[in-house]
Parts: sequence; structure tokens; C-alpha cells
Amino acid sequence: MDTQSRLLGAQGPGPYWGNLGDWRASFDTPQLDVTQAYAEAARRLAYQHARAIDLAAPDQLLELGAGQGASLALWAELGIDSVITMDRQRARHAGSRHIACAFDAPWPALPLVDAVIAVDALYHARDFAAVLQRIGQHLMPSGRWAMTTLEINPALSGTEKRALALQLRACRIAWAGVWHGSTDIFHAAGLQISGVEDLSEAVLSGFAEAIGHRAKAVRWIDTCHPAWVKLSLTARLCRHLVNSGKVRYVLISGNAARR
Ligand SMILES: C[S@@+](CC[C@H](N)C(=O)[O-])C[C@H]1O[C@@H](n2cnc3c(N)ncnc32)[C@H](O)[C@@H]1O
Repeated sequence: MDTQSRLLGAQGPGPYWGNLGDWRASFDTPQLDVTQAYAEAARRLAYQHARAIDLAAPDQLLELGAGQGASLALWAELGIDSVITMDRQRARHAGSRHIACAFDAPWPALPLVDAVIAVDALYHARDFAAVLQRIGQHLMPSGRWAMTTLEINPALSGTEKRALALQLRACRIAWAGVWHGSTDIFHAAGLQISGVEDLSEAVLSGFAEAIGHRAKAVRWIDTCHPAWVKLSLTARLCRHLVNSGKVRYVLISGNAARR
């Protein structure tokens, strides 16, 4: 097991989740439960994407930034047996087609799919609009898509935006890689938005609090490990972003726009 997964309290055999998690106690409450197992929260966040687009058999799915492929078991439970995963990491899972490729680099030739999902991955893009273009090109005309990413508060002043851009860059998040609230880049990519859900509390506050809770169980020696330092810094960033109101964590979903 990789150190990050162990520190997050993962158990059993992999593949392990790597997203921030949706830390609500259940689907229909705003209440957080940061004592729940990380795998539950991570699975719930992935499930939100499927729910947003009614993912079901016989959909063919392309998942961007799929990480270790923990989501494959969830997709299988939903009856999805045709999945292509893409991640810049090599696959650690078997049983589906994996493309080791950056989602913001040119993609290899792929069949058109019914659904594209990206769980907690796209804010790592260098150019969000370019990724949307590729998604639009690889969706069937009846296709649907769902993604979570960061949305910059469009009401920020120029100075606030410049300061935030520097802060995000220090965390390797590119200014052009996040969403600035414009629907134009979706339309230009042939994508129509049907829903934008604010998950800032559930995900950003939830992760920050969950790491605070987890810290009580982590051995002192582990708190010096780079993986724990990274988790702590991510938690601190999540807390700052949600408290400052400068950034929202959003689940955006929709369908291919008929052209
Ligand atoms: C926060 S993890 C989420 C992983 C997975 N979706 C999950 O729910 O466990 C983000 C993933 O995006 C991948 N990633 C980041 N930037 C990428 C890029 N430019 N192209 C492809 N994958 C990328 C990382 O390798 C990582 O696996």
C-alpha cells in the first residue's frame, strides 16, 4: 500500500482512492461526518458524478484522472462494463483499457463514448478549455459528462485574483487550469451545462476537518513523512479556500450540445 493511502486509513487490498472525498454523513444531509472511513467519503464523491448524469448500463465510459482505478468497482456495481481510464500515471488496475496520457496533451485515437467523468482531477490541467474541447470531441451526440473542479469567484478584484493565482501556483494549480465561471468555454467545446452543484462544504471543509481528525490517529513519526506533510498542506489550502470565499469546489455536469 502506498504511504498516502495508509495515512488516510485505507484498508484491504487496492486499488485505493485518491480524491478529497465527500464527507457528508449521507447523500441527503449537509451534516459532515469526518469520522467515517476515507474510502466511504471518496466513493461518495465519485458516485455523485455518476448520479449527476444517470450513469447506467450500457453506457461506455471514459474516466479522466482515474488514479489507481478505485472507481472501477463502483462503475461495475452500476453495470458499466466498458470503461477506458486515462491518467498520467500508469495503470495499477487490470480489466479495463488504460491510457497513460495527460488529459491536457493530445489524446490517442479513441472511440466515441456515452459518458465522460473526471473525479477531482481536472484542476490539475494546464488549460481547462483545451480539456473541455477534447471531451467534446470524444462524446457521442447523446453523450453526458460530469466533472469536479475549482471555480474562481468571478467577483474578485484584479489584485485578489493575482494573489490567488500565486497561491494556487505554489500548489501546482494553474490559473488557466481552473474554471472562471464562464459558460462560453463549454459552449465552444460543444458541451451544454445542465447542473452546477457547490460541494465546497462537503469536500473542502470536509477534507480539512477529516485530516484534523485523522491527525489524532497518525503516529508522530508519520507526521514527518512527505505524504503526511502534503496531506496537511492540502487540508490547510482547502480550509483557506472555503473560508475566504475565493474559490468554490463544484460538480459540473451536462450533455453534448447538439450542433
Ligand atoms: C486527486 S487524484 C484523483 C484520482 C481519482 N479520480 C480518485 O477519485 O481516486 C487526481 C488524479 O489526476 C491525475 N492527473 C493530474 N494531472 C493530470 C493530467 N494533466 N493528465 C492526466 N491525469 C492527471 C493524477 O495522476 C491523479 O491520479
